[in-house]
Amino acid sequence: MISEETRLPTSLDDVQGWFPKVDQLLFTWFLERQERRGDEGDLVELGSYLGKSAILMGRHLREGETFTVCDLFDSDAPDDSNQAEMKGSYATLTRTAFEANYRAFHDRLPEIVQGPTSQILDHVEPESTRFVHVDASHLYEHVHGDIRAAHVMLPPDGLLVCDDYRSEHTPGVAAAVWESVADDGLRPICVTTQKLYGTWGDAGAVQDELLEWLAGRDDVWHEVQQVAGHGLVRVKGNSARPKKDEVRRLKERLADSEDRLARAEARLARARDELDSVRNSVSFKVGRSATALPRAVRRRGPRGD
Ligand SMILES: C[S@@+](CC[C@H](N)C(=O)[O-])C[C@H]1O[C@@H](n2cnc3c(N)ncnc32)[C@H](O)[C@@H]1O
Repeated sequence: MISEETRLPTSLDDVQGWFPKVDQLLFTWFLERQERRGDEGDLVELGSYLGKSAILMGRHLREGETFTVCDLFDSDAPDDSNQAEMKGSYATLTRTAFEANYRAFHDRLPEIVQGPTSQILDHVEPESTRFVHVDASHLYEHVHGDIRAAHVMLPPDGLLVCDDYRSEHTPGVAAAVWESVADDGLRPICVTTQKLYGTWGDAGAVQDELLEWLAGRDDVWHEVQQVAGHGLVRVKGNSARPKKDEVRRLKERLADSEDRLARAEARLARARDELDSVRNSVSFKVGRSATALPRAVRRRGPRGD
C-alpha cells in the first residue's frame, strides 16, 4: 500500500509550500517574457522547501541553462536564530522529499547546493543568471546577504523576486528588501500580497508590458501606485469574481429551495383538502346511521348502557 508520505504529486496543488496562484501566474509571465525576448541566463532559487516554486521554475529551463537551488534541507543552520527558524517551520523537511517531488515533474534534478545560502556565490558565476527567487531565511542578516548575492548573479536586466517582503512575522525581510531599493538601486516592478518583483535594470519598460498583459486578464486585479516618485504595480488574485460566482450559486440554491417549498405547500394543501373531505363523508355517514337507529337505542347508546 502507498502511504501518504510516499504518494507523489501529480499537480503543483499537491505540493506543500507557499506559492500563491497569482505568483505562479507572474513567475510564468516573467519567465515566458524572458524566453520571448531571447534573454539568456540561468535560474537560481534560494530556499526551495518541498519544491513548489522550483518545480514551476524548472519548466522554463532551456537547453544549455542551469537551474541551481540552495537550501539547508535536513542540514544544520549556520547560526542559532536560523536553527530556531528551521525547527519552528521546516522541522520535517528532507532533501529526499524535495527530490522526489521535483522528479515527479521533471526528468532531471536541478543543481542542488545543500547548505546556507551564504555559499551561493561559490557555485554561481557573476551576471550568469536571468531569474533569482529569494525565499530562504527570514532573518535580516541572511536576506540582506541573499539580495546582495542576487545583485552579483544577475545582469542589469535580470529579475529578482523576494518572498515575504511585507509579512508581519518577517520584518527582517522587509528591512533588507527596502534597504536594497533605497541604497542599492533595486527597482521594484510589481508587488503581490507575498512577493516583490524587481530589477536593477529598466523597471519602467517591464511595467509597460506587464500592464498591457494585466489589462487583458479578468482573473487578476491591479492598480499603479506612485512610491517615492516611481510607479509600482500592485497585483492581486481577483477575489471579486469568485464572490460574484458564490452569490450567483447562493441565489440559485435559494430559488431552488423556494420552488421545493412551494411544491411541498401545494402537496400539504391537497392533503388537507382530502382529509377534510374524508372527515365530512365520515361525519355524514355517522350522522345518517345514528338517525337510522330506533329511538330507544339512540337514547341508551349502541351498547345498551
Ligand atoms: C519558505 S521556505 C521556501 C518555500 C518554497 N520556495 C516554496 O515555494 O514552497 C524556506 C526554505 O528556506 C530554507 N532555509 C532557511 N534558512 C536557510 C539558509 N540560511 N540557507 C539555505 N536555506 C535556508 C528552509 O530549509 C526552507 O526550505
